[in-house]
Amino acid sequence: MSLPSPPVESSSAIAGRGIRETIRGLMSLVLQPIRSIRGGRLTTYTDRYRVACLLSWLPCNLGWLLRTFGSDKQRAEEHAYGPTYHALFRGFRYKRIKLMEIGVLDGASLLAWRAFFPRARIVGCDIEPKDRFAIGRIQTRVMDQSSAAELAKVGSEEGPFDIIIDDGSHLSSHQIISFYDLFERITPNGIYIIEDVQTSFWPGHFGGKNINSPAFQQTCVGEFLELAKYVNYSEFRSADQVDQRRLECAKRITRIAFEHNLIVIHRGDNNMPSNYERQARANNYWKDRQ
Ligand SMILES: C[S@@+](CC[C@H](N)C(=O)[O-])C[C@H]1O[C@@H](n2cnc3c(N)ncnc32)[C@H](O)[C@@H]1O
Repeated sequence: MSLPSPPVESSSAIAGRGIRETIRGLMSLVLQPIRSIRGGRLTTYTDRYRVACLLSWLPCNLGWLLRTFGSDKQRAEEHAYGPTYHALFRGFRYKRIKLMEIGVLDGASLLAWRAFFPRARIVGCDIEPKDRFAIGRIQTRVMDQSSAAELAKVGSEEGPFDIIIDDGSHLSSHQIISFYDLFERITPNGIYIIEDVQTSFWPGHFGGKNINSPAFQQTCVGEFLELAKYVNYSEFRSADQVDQRRLECAKRITRIAFEHNLIVIHRGDNNMPSNYERQARANNYWKDRQ
């Protein structure tokens, strides 16, 4: 009695199996180091940097990268900046951009930027030396963000920047001076972000004030709510008590967005003329015909 012959696999089925195995192999090559980061097994910063380089060629979500590398920017019960950052930075992803972040801590966010922007140069600035995190496309500078001289030095030596993120001291006065001193170092169409502005609302901490107090205007959120009025400076009908610093800055701001604990400022030419004269002419036209 002859045995039934085993089913013959077609050559396309064999090829399909080969492709699936190759994909599985490549996935484990990438996933293994990621599991190691999460399990705390990849302990050296250099190892983590290598994984960031590997991931930079995959279309990973930025929120996921921030969480994977351990930044509090995307962490339960801390912040959820990931989706906003992903949407804001998508257009810059594969460009040769320069990104500055104030506040390095343990370098977690620097690695996430490295993994998201494969061609970027990243400058991490901190009041404390963070040389141990300077590797490959990441460099670090010692800078106190409350010092105009230090902001000017780093700005002129390292700028211009496409993106600046202020995740430093979170003190209102520091957030304000850093913005006004660094905003001129942002490229046209660049973005400046201030994180953790909840401190503006906490009296007694970080220069915060009660929301009902007139002093609230001196806080970071208070300052940017005021600056937001100046985005429409061409519509002002009186120059009385107009603040010159805000006015000059607003000529280069196309948008200010407020989100939970974040302020996002978009740089661009803000030189649209007023609608006032045109509107007044139109009003007269219709008045004459009534
Ligand atoms: C919240 S941590 C940064 C976290 C990091 N960006 C991340 O997401 O992983 C704040 C950092 O700001 C730094 N810092 C505090 N005061 C500063 C100042 N005046 N100028 C610059 N950096 C400052 C601290 O040393 C600390 O490393």
